[in-house]
Amino acid sequence: MPKIRRSMHGHWSSGVVFVLAATGSAVGLGNLWRFPYLVGESGGGAFVLIYLLCILLVGTPIMIAEVMLGRRGRRSPINSLRVIAREEGLSPNWQLLGWMGVVAGFMILSFYSVVGGWTLFYSVEALQGAFSGISGNQAGQVFAGLVDSAWLVVGWHTAFILILFVIVAAGVRKGLQRAVTILMPMLFALLVLLVLHGMTTGGFAATVQFMFKPDFSVVDATTVLTALGQAFFTLSLGMGAIMVYGAYLPSSTSIPGTTAWIVGMDTLTAIIAGLAIFPIVFAANMEPAQGTSLVFITLPVVFGEIPFGFVLGVMFFALLTLAAVTSGISLLEPAVAYITEVSRLRRAWAAAAVTAAIWLMGVAAGLSLNIWSDVRLLPFMDQGIFDMLEFISSNILLPLGGLLTAVFVAWCMTRKTVLSELDLHSHGQTYKIWLFATRYIAPTAVILVFLHSIGLF
Ligand code: TRP
Repeated sequence: MPKIRRSMHGHWSSGVVFVLAATGSAVGLGNLWRFPYLVGESGGGAFVLIYLLCILLVGTPIMIAEVMLGRRGRRSPINSLRVIAREEGLSPNWQLLGWMGVVAGFMILSFYSVVGGWTLFYSVEALQGAFSGISGNQAGQVFAGLVDSAWLVVGWHTAFILILFVIVAAGVRKGLQRAVTILMPMLFALLVLLVLHGMTTGGFAATVQFMFKPDFSVVDATTVLTALGQAFFTLSLGMGAIMVYGAYLPSSTSIPGTTAWIVGMDTLTAIIAGLAIFPIVFAANMEPAQGTSLVFITLPVVFGEIPFGFVLGVMFFALLTLAAVTSGISLLEPAVAYITEVSRLRRAWAAAAVTAAIWLMGVAAGLSLNIWSDVRLLPFMDQGIFDMLEFISSNILLPLGGLLTAVFVAWCMTRKTVLSELDLHSHGQTYKIWLFATRYIAPTAVILVFLHSIGLF
C-alpha cells in the first residue's frame, strides 16, 4: 500500500494546475532567449535534432523521476530525499542531493534575476516607445547603458526579485497557483499572436529553412554538450524545482502523463519562440546568429522599424517578463519550503530570508558586469561572478544533480515503491522504457558530457 501523505504547504487543486506550474517553471528565458540563439550558432536543424533526442532520452525520464520523488516525499527536496532514503533503507547522505539543488537554485536565481530585471527594464522602454526608429548602434547603447550602470542593473534586479518574493510568500495556493493560472494563459496568448505575425512577414520561409535544415558540418562534441545542458536547463531539471512542484501534486494524477504534457509544451514553446523571432529578424535583413544580444539589441531595432512594431515590442518584452517570473518562483520555492519545514518561521519570513540572500548574490552578479568586472572569486576560473555562477550551476551542478537523481531512483530505490508511486506495472512498456532510459541512457549521456567538458574525452 502506498502511504498517503499530505504536504504541509498545500496541494495544487488539480493535475492541470501542476502542468501549468511546471510548464511555467520550464518555459523561461531558456526557451525564448537562449534556445533561439543556440540554434543560430550551432547548426540550425542539426542542433534541433540533437536537442530533441536529449529531451526525449535524458530529460523526460529524469523529469518523471523528479516528480515521483517529490510526490513520494511530499516535502522540500532536502527533506523528501531524507525521508525516502530512510524508508528505503538507504544512506541519509542522499539528502545532500537536495542541498546541492538548493545551492544550484541560489546560484541560478542570482543571475537569472539580473536578466529578469533587464526584461522589466525593456518592457518599460518598449511601453515608452523608446525603440521607435533606433539604429543598431543606438540599440547597442541602450543595452550598454543598462548593463554598464550599477544602479540600473541592481535596481531592476531588485524589482524583479521583489515580484518573486510576493508570489512565493503568499504560498502554494494563494501565491504560486494563482500566479500561474493567470500568467500562463497570458503567456500562451502573447506567443500565439507573435507567431501569427511572424507568418505574415516575408521571413517565415527563411526561418523554417534556417531552423529545420540540418547542417551537420558544424556539429561536434561541443554541440552535443550544449544540447544536453540546454535540455536540463530548459526543463528545470537537476535542482529540485520540479521535485518540489511534484510534492504538491494530487495523489490521483498520472506522473508520466503530466510529464509528457510539460515536456511537450516546453519544446513547442522553444520552437515557436524561434518561429516568432527569426521571421522579423530575417524580414528586416538582419543576421540571426547574434548570441546573447539577439533579444536585447537586434529585436529592439527590428521593432523600431516594422509596422506595428510598438505593439509587438511591448508584447514581446511582456512575454519575456512573464516567462521569467513563472520560472523564477520555482527557483525560490525549494529553499523556502525547506526553511518553513525546519524552522518556526512562517512562510512569508522564510521567503524574505531566502530572497534577501539571493538578492545579495544577485547584486554581486549584477555588479560583475560593470564596476566589479575584474573581480575573480575563484582563482582557477578566469570568469567574472555572473559568468562563473552560470557556468558552475548549468554546466556542473545541474547535470550532476540529474545524474544522482537518476541513480537514486533507478538503481537504489526498490522497484515496488517506484511502481506504486508511478502507478505503473512492471511488465508495462512505459515502465520498461522509462527504467532503461533512467538506468542506462541518462547516466551514460551525462557522464560522457562531463568527461568531455573537463577535457578527458
Ligand atoms: N527552465 C527555465 C528556463 O528555461 C529556467 C529554470 C527555472 C531552471 N527553474 C530552473 C533551470 C531550475 C534549472 C533548474 O528559463
